Amino acid sequence: MSLGGRTAVVTGAAQGLGEAIARALHARGASVVVADVNDERAEAVATSLPERARAAHVDVRDRASFERLLDESGRVDVLVNNAARTVFRPLWEIEADEWDDVLATNLRGVFFGCQVAGPRMREQGWGRILNMASISGQAAGASGAHYAASKAGIIVLTKILAAELAPYGVTCNALAPAAVRTPVFDDLPEERLEALRQRIPVGRFGEPAEIAELAAFLCSEEAGYITGATFDANGGLLMR
Ligand SMILES: NC(=O)c1ccc[n+]([C@@H]2O[C@H](COP(=O)([O-])OP(=O)(O)OC[C@H]3O[C@@H](n4cnc5c(N)ncnc54)[C@H](O)[C@@H]3O)[C@@H](O)[C@H]2O)c1
Repeated sequence: MSLGGRTAVVTGAAQGLGEAIARALHARGASVVVADVNDERAEAVATSLPERARAAHVDVRDRASFERLLDESGRVDVLVNNAARTVFRPLWEIEADEWDDVLATNLRGVFFGCQVAGPRMREQGWGRILNMASISGQAAGASGAHYAASKAGIIVLTKILAAELAPYGVTCNALAPAAVRTPVFDDLPEERLEALRQRIPVGRFGEPAEIAELAAFLCSEEAGYITGATFDANGGLLMR
């Protein structure tokens, strides 16, 4: 599963799953671009990796920012569209501004990533695009309706892109985790976390590294026959 000689751009890689995925790709030999809107944390992640890593600024809501990121990164073989805003809010309390910003970050951001990177990878004749979806895009749950709608959108967007790029050696897949301990859960009260944990068949939250291993496989040479798929990594919370 070597990614030696490949360049991988991971958005939202300054913490959480994005950071774990950047580390897993790096461990397989890829040069990684730790891209995030949070420059300070992205720099800290990049400098903690020995060689083959650099931080880059991106605001995924902005197409020009995405284009700059890819221009500066040279040949990009792997793009992981991971950046997102996770918001837990009851349906009735979501204001229009928040709806728009969550959709702009989570869904329009992935659209821009696919639209900018797709043709470049097609030209190269090789590429891997991995879009971070969520169990929230597959079933009703605790997250906000805006977050859930963005993740459902990512799943079908992934299929459309996969069909476009399949003949050119470029795959596009989605990964749908649930309940992985990252900073998004830091503000939830302990009782709510415990109630969620009790519903998970494997009896615990997931670890970022467990998601990152699957992500790295989907970005590898060996995953060339897998495209348009959504992979569940949810501790058995949703079996379909
Ligand atoms: N943690 C989970 O249990 C879980 C479950 C399902 C899906 N996911 C998905 O996995 C991905 C990572 O989740 P996480 O828990 O690590 O999230 P996180 O909030 O810890 O990290 C998200 C990162 O994205 C960055 N970001 C936010 N807006 C951005 C923007 N406009 N441009 C560039 N970067 C931006 C943030 O700065 C942050 O570093 C997300 O797509 C999330 O929806 C996570």
